[in-house]
Amino acid sequence: MQASKQYEFGLIGLGVMGRNFILNVADNGFSALGYDLDPGQVEALKEEGGDLEKVNATGSLEEFVHGLATPRKIMLLVPAGPIVDSVIEDLLPLVSEGDLIIDGGNSFFRDTDRREAYLKEKKIHFFGAGVSGGAEGARKGPSLMPGGDREAYGEVRPIFEAVAAQFEGTPCVAYLGPKSAGNYVKMVHNGIEYGLMQLTAEVYDLLRRAGGLGNAEIREVFARWNQGRLQSFLVEITSEILGKKDDLDSGDLIDKILDQGKQKGTGKWTSQNAMDLGIPVPTIDIAVSMRAISAFKADRLRADGLFDRPAGKAPDRETLVRDCEAALYFGFLLTYAQGLHQLAEASETYGYELELATVARIWRAGCIIRAALLEAISMAYEQEPSLVNLVFSQTFRSPLRETVAPARNVVALGVASGIPLPGLSSALSYFDSYTTGRLPMNLVQAQRDFFGSHTYQRTDREGTFHTDWES
Ligand code: 6PG
Repeated sequence: MQASKQYEFGLIGLGVMGRNFILNVADNGFSALGYDLDPGQVEALKEEGGDLEKVNATGSLEEFVHGLATPRKIMLLVPAGPIVDSVIEDLLPLVSEGDLIIDGGNSFFRDTDRREAYLKEKKIHFFGAGVSGGAEGARKGPSLMPGGDREAYGEVRPIFEAVAAQFEGTPCVAYLGPKSAGNYVKMVHNGIEYGLMQLTAEVYDLLRRAGGLGNAEIREVFARWNQGRLQSFLVEITSEILGKKDDLDSGDLIDKILDQGKQKGTGKWTSQNAMDLGIPVPTIDIAVSMRAISAFKADRLRADGLFDRPAGKAPDRETLVRDCEAALYFGFLLTYAQGLHQLAEASETYGYELELATVARIWRAGCIIRAALLEAISMAYEQEPSLVNLVFSQTFRSPLRETVAPARNVVALGVASGIPLPGLSSALSYFDSYTTGRLPMNLVQAQRDFFGSHTYQRTDREGTFHTDWES
């Protein structure tokens, strides 16, 4: 490496994501230096980058840090967890006051808060930035969700705005708020991602099993939907997936893929923290649970056939496809509503100062949950920044009225056919609960008071009451 050259941006972790991200930085005119312990990754980047003046790599951490212009901007794209801490420890003796370390992984937000406080003592800026869009997004334009020290973000802002995905000329990146706001928003993004994926899978299953449609037909259906209000990355790739042939065998690849969901944990964290905050996100919860249920493949196989599965009566194909489209839109909208409600509450509780219109805006391109719907969602929050739940938004009143009836038809068909649609059912129940003035929680309260003297409140007078139920 040329000793005098000072690169503008440094990246640690040259796996596919890291390599693609740094190449994207270099393509946008910022010189960048990568570091990885693995010499293979170092060589791969040098080769792919072509011009070492623009993008270079090294396997020596000293060389890496000394090769960066100050204040240094060092981004980590390494697996979340203890590796982040150990990279920070390795960097500490080498970096200088005022340098900036950015964690671009899916780190747990509480770890980000801890690391920020720890590094602040050492006068090193640290912030978490969610990066979404997978390997292709990293190369061509991800959605970036930075949070933390606003001033520190200013140092890296021109680079982030240049590399981010563009939505009609606007970069899909914005400073979101202090502390772990960036990682938190990314975590909820992933929770929503889980929900949308579960809903998509359910509709595919219903079309297949109740509607009798083949892969090619469902592929067409999703491709058509992607031209309308369901236009989104996940609907688009579903169509592509259904068209993929198996190159190891004959037939469609989708039919050979084992039905056991894996997960790295961000969906689970979203659910867990929603519970801590007291915010209902049932469609995200069930998406996490369905990955867990799916893992019990042997049990499921053993139980399959033990019980009768009724044959529900599907409507004609055209009606079924139309209802499914509306139901999927309904489910998508309610999943975004749940996630954004969680963000509103987290913003209050953790002091993130989030603007939900901005969050929705930076999700319009580059990220996994990008969808046409996000444009209207972002406008809804712009018009009403204090909107608690999208269910109350004027913008969505008529789409909800129009799609709830088909959603009921679809859920009813699933129930009648013994085809599980827990994501869609949960979205529908959430909607029905949120829009019901009186829920049967009066009985639950009475039961609590009956067996545990937990007291209750009344609808007709102030105060706290306890009844001697057995007298
Ligand atoms: C993204 C994704 C990504 C996530 C994968 C896998 O926004 O690019 O959310 O960050 O790691 O989707 O997540 P699971 O392994 O938990 O499904």
